[in-house]
Amino acid sequence: MNKRFFLAAAATALATGLSPAAAQTFPSRPITMIIPFAAGGPTDVVARIVSEAMGKSLGQAVVIENVAGAGGTTGSTRLTQAAADGHTIMIGHTGTHAASVALYPNLRYNPATDFAPIGLVNTNAILITAKKALPANTLSEFVAWVKANERTANNAHAGIGSVSHTTCLLLNSIMGVNPQTVPYRGTGPAMNDLVAGQVDYLCDQVVNVAPQVRAGTIKAFAVAQMTRNQALPDVPTTTEAGLPGYQVVVWNAMLAPKGTPAPVVARLNEALKAALADANVRARLAELGADLPTDVQATPAGLQAFIESEIAKWTPVIKAAGVTASN
Ligand code: MLT
Repeated sequence: MNKRFFLAAAATALATGLSPAAAQTFPSRPITMIIPFAAGGPTDVVARIVSEAMGKSLGQAVVIENVAGAGGTTGSTRLTQAAADGHTIMIGHTGTHAASVALYPNLRYNPATDFAPIGLVNTNAILITAKKALPANTLSEFVAWVKANERTANNAHAGIGSVSHTTCLLLNSIMGVNPQTVPYRGTGPAMNDLVAGQVDYLCDQVVNVAPQVRAGTIKAFAVAQMTRNQALPDVPTTTEAGLPGYQVVVWNAMLAPKGTPAPVVARLNEALKAALADANVRARLAELGADLPTDVQATPAGLQAFIESEIAKWTPVIKAAGVTASN
C-alpha cells in the first residue's frame, strides 16, 4: 500500500469509525461490478476491457454481474442496496444517471446523492444505424424512408430511459415521426436483431456499432457529433449528412454506493485511472471509437459535478418529449 493511501485510510477510519485495518486491506476479496444491461452491449464491452486492467492493479478480480431491466434502473437500484465497502461497484451511464430522473417518477434512487462517484470511464458518440436491407443509403434517404413508412417502421432500444431510447426519441422528434419502438434488455441483443433484419433502426453507441459496420452487417448513416469518429472515419457527421440539429454524446461512469469510505473510493479511482492509462486498454477503446474522459471528469468530484450538469441538461429534453416510464 502506498503512503498516500495509508494516510487517507487512517483519516477516514477516524472520521467514519471504519477500522484502519479494514480501510488498509481493501480490496480483501473480488469486486463485483454491476452492469445494468445485457452482456455484449456497449456498457458491458467497455466494462470488460476496463475491469480486467483494474483487477490487475487492485490485486483482486473485478467480476462483471449483468443486472438488466427497466432501462438500467434495476441494476442501479441494486447498487444502492449493496454494502458501501467498495466490493460492489457499477458502471452507469447517461440514461441511468441523468435521463432517468425525468423519465421515472418512481425512481428508487437519486443519481446525484445516492452514489459515491469514482470517475468517468469514457464518452461515446451515437450513430444512426439501420438493418442492411433498409432501402436507404444516405441519411436523407433514411429520413425520407422513415417518414414514408412511419406506421410500420420501428426502432429498437435497450429499455425506457436507456441511451438508445432517449437518443432515438430525440432523433424521431427532429424527424417529426413517432414510430413503434421495440425494447430489449440491452443493445447487445437489440444489435443481434438489427443484424438479423428483425428491427429497422437503432441509435447506438459507436462501441457497439463499429464492429458491425466494419463487418458490413448493418448500415450507419451518420455520427451525431461535430467531428467524424476515429473508428469509422468513412461515416459522415450529422452536419455533413444534413441533420445538424442532431448532436449527442453519451458517457459511462463508475460508481460505488453512497457512504463508501473516501480512501476506498480513492483506491478505486487510482485503479480506474491506471486502467485508462494502460496502452492495451487505450488501443482497444480507440479501436471501438470510445473517447477518454478529461482529467477533471476522471476524478470523483469532477464526476459528481458532471452528473449534476447532465441531469440538468437531460431533464428539460425528456420533459419536452413528454415521456415517462415506470420501473
Ligand atoms: C443503452 O442503450 O442504454 C445501452 O446501449 C445499453 C447497453 O449497454 O446495452
